[in-house]
Amino acid sequence: MKVVGINGSPRQDGNTAILIRTVFQELEQQGIETELFQLAEKSIRGCNACWNCFHSQSGCCVIDDDGFNECFAKLLAADGIILGSPVYSADVTSQMKAFIDRASIVLAGKKGLFRHKVGAAVIAARRGGAISALDTLHHFMHSKEMFLVGSTYWNMVYGREIGEVERDQEGMQNMKNLGQNMAWLLEKIHR
Ligand SMILES: Cc1cc2nc3c(=O)[nH]c(=O)nc-3n(C[C@H](O)[C@H](O)[C@H](O)COP(=O)(O)O)c2cc1C
Repeated sequence: MKVVGINGSPRQDGNTAILIRTVFQELEQQGIETELFQLAEKSIRGCNACWNCFHSQSGCCVIDDDGFNECFAKLLAADGIILGSPVYSADVTSQMKAFIDRASIVLAGKKGLFRHKVGAAVIAARRGGAISALDTLHHFMHSKEMFLVGSTYWNMVYGREIGEVERDQEGMQNMKNLGQNMAWLLEKIHR
């Protein structure tokens, strides 16, 4: 079994990456393979509304030179998906929004590609807007027939500078519990 995490922060290896890797640790302890894809390494553009993917049902985007299709293919092959973003202006980053906008239309054309995948969203925030950002990621996954995993609180952890999230003990414990719950559900579905 494999879980792929997408870090929507333009800051590579920052707080959001710490959160995803914390969930990964729990998954790996249960023998689940993990891979992190950081959007900071790419310049993924927004959807250009050509509707080519929708009408052709190609399962990929016509913009093939910016890393979107590479990232999308990793998600297609995964049993579980973690989407992570810092809060930017009370929502997800523009990098993550560009990614889910494009993925949404590809998946609207070729339905069922994410059906029954296990999904979780995690958010790093300085102070406000985490629940809106979490909702944005949940709305995407829910509308693609995925099973969403919860934890003991909503999946948000507080910190501004890199590493500050580790001081939010309740938030980090919630991430560990999230990883355990995700492993549990993956095991139930795939054994
Ligand atoms: C452009 C920008 C907008 C931000 N907007 C918010 C916000 O609305 N609410 C908030 O709590 N934090 C906001 N932040 C702070 C980040 O969410 C916070 O520093 C987070 O830990 C960064 O995670 P990262 O290290 O993964 O990038 C913003 C940061 C930037 C750079």
